Amino acid sequence: MVDLGLAIGMSSIYLIVALALAFIHFSVPLVYYYHLKSRWLNKPWNIEKDPSYRPKVAIIIPTYNEVEFIRKKLDDIYAQNYPRELVEVIIADSGSGDGTLEAIKEWMLAHMDLGLKLVVDMEKRGKLYALLKALNYVPLDSEIVVFTDVDAFWEPSALSKMSSYFADPNVGSVTACIYYTDVDMHEEIYRNYYNVVRVAESKIYATPVHNGPFLAIKADLLRKYGLPDFPGSDDSSFGSFIAFAGYRAIQVEDIVVREPIRGSQVWRRIRRAHHLIINFITTKKYAKRRGVYKYNSAFERIWRIEWWLHIVNPWLLVKSVILLVLNAIFGSLIALIFIGAGLALLLLSNIYKVWILQQIYLVIAMVRSLWMKEMVWRK
Ligand code: GDD
Ligand code: MN
Repeated sequence: MVDLGLAIGMSSIYLIVALALAFIHFSVPLVYYYHLKSRWLNKPWNIEKDPSYRPKVAIIIPTYNEVEFIRKKLDDIYAQNYPRELVEVIIADSGSGDGTLEAIKEWMLAHMDLGLKLVVDMEKRGKLYALLKALNYVPLDSEIVVFTDVDAFWEPSALSKMSSYFADPNVGSVTACIYYTDVDMHEEIYRNYYNVVRVAESKIYATPVHNGPFLAIKADLLRKYGLPDFPGSDDSSFGSFIAFAGYRAIQVEDIVVREPIRGSQVWRRIRRAHHLIINFITTKKYAKRRGVYKYNSAFERIWRIEWWLHIVNPWLLVKSVILLVLNAIFGSLIALIFIGAGLALLLLSNIYKVWILQQIYLVIAMVRSLWMKEMVWRK
């Protein structure tokens, strides 16, 4: 009798732990999201913007087999309502063999009034390597460096809007909100959630995640501090690094970049999760090691929550599911009902489904990051 009582007692403790873990897993990001959305998202920027500020801009585009989009990309830059003499484009190609280089040369001949340098490497060593190499070709008088992807389409006002933020000397980097040219339910839900979170964090002080399709950094900071150069650092880490250096690293709501959906999205989402994991594990230590780190209480709070959401929170879900399954195996009806409800929600709610998938990608990425260091992706 006593033993049975003890067994029931123990199993209900496990059940309570499982439910508590699930509750924490779901409630922390929800509370964070609604707090940011209601308290911060619509606040004015406390930034001294100047819409007439026109710094000299260098745009870096890494290319590998991009013949389909490269002309449109260059056309978008050419169509910027920004003084052309203040813009310099640097393309860093890794030996494309599909006609990209020919298309670029042809485009250059037809648009001789835009400064454009083409840097060609014969070996494909990944996007980060190409970006770091291109930095050597940034003119000495450039004030802003904008990193962008070929398949990232800008509206004509992107550079002028960006510049108005850089008029404030506290702003170190500016990234855009991402939307898509194609319909993809998963990506839309993902971006709707994160665009809100990133912009709101930026209004508080800075966001630890920046987006590769449009990522602008004050050139002096690059000259002084360089850029994170560990594998996987080529987007979000740049933002965190600038924030740790003591500058506002912001995602702004009025610059919108559109991307097509191409290639395997599952693989791409795992890579995206991997970059986020690398950022939250490495960038702070890296900034300290480089002697760049400056303590800022507002950013530390944001960093701590985001670190927790990316590194710890996914594992609470894993533990909760394992405990629920064990409870169900040992006969707990309540555990079975919760598992059933969790599975039913996957069919009923797309937001819930996208969230669960994102947790799975983060877990896979964390396990993967234990042995995988190289970050060159195939096309
Ligand atoms: N030079 C060079 N060498 N460029 C490359 C290489 C390479 O080995 N690999 C990719 N690129 C270029 C592409 O041509 C494109 O302009 C840009 O880097 C992004 O590559 P995509 O193939 O479009 O990949 P994505 O859309 O999945 O990239 C997204 O995730 C990355 C991190 O995982 C974007 O958000 C990127 O900005 C982000 O860095
Ligand atoms: Mn892309």
